[in-house]
Amino acid sequence: MDEQIPVAVRQEIENLVRELNDHSYRYHVQDNPVISDPEYDSLYRRLKNLEEKHGYVLPESPTQRVGAAPSEKFEKVKHAEPMLSLDNAFSYEEMQEFDKRLKRLLDSQEEIEYTVEPKYDGLAMELTYKNGLLLRASTRGDGYEGEDVTRNIRTIRSVPLKIRGKRIPAEIDIRGEVYMDINEFEKLNRQREQNNEAAFANPRNASAGSVRQLDPRVTAERKLHLACYGIGAVTGLSFRSQTEFTEWMKEAGFPVPVRIVISEGMEKVVGEIRKIETERETFPFETDGVVVKVNDFGLQKKLGMKTREPRWAIAYKFPAHQASTVVKDIRGSVGRTGVITPFAVFEPVRIGGVTVSRSTLHNWDEIQRKDIRIGDTVVVERAGDVIPRVVMVVKEKRTGQEKVMPVPDRCPVCDSRVLRDEGEVAIKCLSLHCPAQVQEKIIHFASRGGMDIEGLGEKNVELLFSRGLIRHFEDIYRIRKEDLLELPRFARKSAQNLTSAIEKSKHATLGRFLFAIGILHVGEYAAKLLARNFRKLEDLYNVRKESILGIKQIGEKIAASVFAFFNDQKNIDLLNSLKNLGLNLSNPDFAAEIKSGLPFSGMTFVITGSMPKSRKEVEDLIENNGGHAASAVSASTDYLVAGENAGSKLDKAIKLGVKTISYEKLLDMMKGAKGQQKLF
Ligand code: IVH
Repeated sequence: MDEQIPVAVRQEIENLVRELNDHSYRYHVQDNPVISDPEYDSLYRRLKNLEEKHGYVLPESPTQRVGAAPSEKFEKVKHAEPMLSLDNAFSYEEMQEFDKRLKRLLDSQEEIEYTVEPKYDGLAMELTYKNGLLLRASTRGDGYEGEDVTRNIRTIRSVPLKIRGKRIPAEIDIRGEVYMDINEFEKLNRQREQNNEAAFANPRNASAGSVRQLDPRVTAERKLHLACYGIGAVTGLSFRSQTEFTEWMKEAGFPVPVRIVISEGMEKVVGEIRKIETERETFPFETDGVVVKVNDFGLQKKLGMKTREPRWAIAYKFPAHQASTVVKDIRGSVGRTGVITPFAVFEPVRIGGVTVSRSTLHNWDEIQRKDIRIGDTVVVERAGDVIPRVVMVVKEKRTGQEKVMPVPDRCPVCDSRVLRDEGEVAIKCLSLHCPAQVQEKIIHFASRGGMDIEGLGEKNVELLFSRGLIRHFEDIYRIRKEDLLELPRFARKSAQNLTSAIEKSKHATLGRFLFAIGILHVGEYAAKLLARNFRKLEDLYNVRKESILGIKQIGEKIAASVFAFFNDQKNIDLLNSLKNLGLNLSNPDFAAEIKSGLPFSGMTFVITGSMPKSRKEVEDLIENNGGHAASAVSASTDYLVAGENAGSKLDKAIKLGVKTISYEKLLDMMKGAKGQQKLF
């Protein structure tokens, strides 16, 4: 095919690729662009047109950074040489000890030459180049085996797709850190909060989350950077020291740490650490320490490594940044599972380059333990992480005006009553309507173990939420094909598939539904047990706790939760509106009991008036024989078992035409059925 492309075109494509890569390097690695963005864009478009027209695309073409389709999962990649971690030091004394240890191991008193550079707080990456071209990018994983994230890493502009310069090794593994600038991180989090998505705790998590995206287009949108600091396996080139290798990396077009200094002896190293420590506030990225490495590769080899760390390097970790500020408020935030976590709102304060205006207080017990009150002056610290924490209250600053915050009894988002399990610190909002939880609950609802609605996974639920197509549970059954077609990710076929899957789910089994609806503590098994014991959903409305406890494998905790769920009018309203939208559950689990031929299988009884046995014993008798003992008479009640002094239940049964029987008749029915059974 290539032969058919005119030589001039081929050359133009090759020149454009070279030129564009050069500009990209100047812009993203050297921070020194020589052309304007529109000029770059126009060259890029010219290249893209030529490539499309002639089908000639070089692997290092800048057009190959973006546009890869989402993948199903990341493949595993073995590292040719293990990717190690670093030993930590938390004081200058420990740094001195490190130096002494090395001298002892090397059996020499000569000062050692070290390199000193900031430690980037991101995600470690290995970039494998073959004959100068980027072949693969992989995460560290467990150090021996990571994940192939090439398609995502290609989207990072400062990652060379091709090694520059003349010294090109046959194969080389370059190690570096993918990271996100603090500004970018804060911007991303603001955006996420606006979209009702969970914020990232720190730039490291944000980088990791961005790299581990199955859709490379998402990675491309996050402004990630690379800083290269290490070497793995290499063939066809050799280096004598860290600095020689760094010089080569610069020449080859790799971004390296902003500051690398060579220092002889630990005294000077400590001086450099101090400098970085004061300078680090000005770095645009998050750094939690300084990496100190023996410069000479020969010495590195001699020193070797421990199981997971080299002996020739160490990370000096900065102490946590601290500042004091005033607690303006204590509020609760509702997580995806309904857990309400308290957080403090501060008078905004800058701590180590980051503005801190709130911090989690973990749980309500912790507030009491630390005695944090609204109006208190507190010491807040940020360790390596951006997550701040309250260290302590400055009690001397109390004026007496401080306010103790009581543990809330209502959800701060939806105002429903909250539940606190005995012996647990967490308090939870159980409402199905709580907007803070709806999105996550819907993801669970539609999941494979739940209603199994194919096409309604996390991504699409997020999309439907952000477009306002889903706000409440019921909205799932209101989605129309036309609405989906207006969304970026849907075409005619996928919209049809999703609406069909939603339609199909209306006929799911009761067992699936009871799991999918997300009743606290009700897993798949408990849901199935409930379905086996209750004929239909309505049988659970206003159910009594004892009836649930009557199911053998169900204990107090689940029973309390099921009871609370079905005795909350808001939930019942929701279930009814789902029914009105066409939800029509089947219950093969219950039918199985009917087939099993127990005397009362498939029958619902209600007991009223005085009985010769205790109420519990009569219920047990019914349930042990396959029946269901319900608490209220309804149209679905088969028999009212009435004794002396029967009251309103009897009236209702007469009104609804429900058959009334005595306790003796109940026994007869049971025996009769058993007798019949014997005949077969
Ligand atoms: S050198 C043998 N230099 O910190 C390991 N690592 O906590 C050589 N890191 O796994 C690593 N900045 O991901 C080195 N300037 C730097 C670094 C750096 C960040 C990361 C790296 C390493 C981790 C250890």
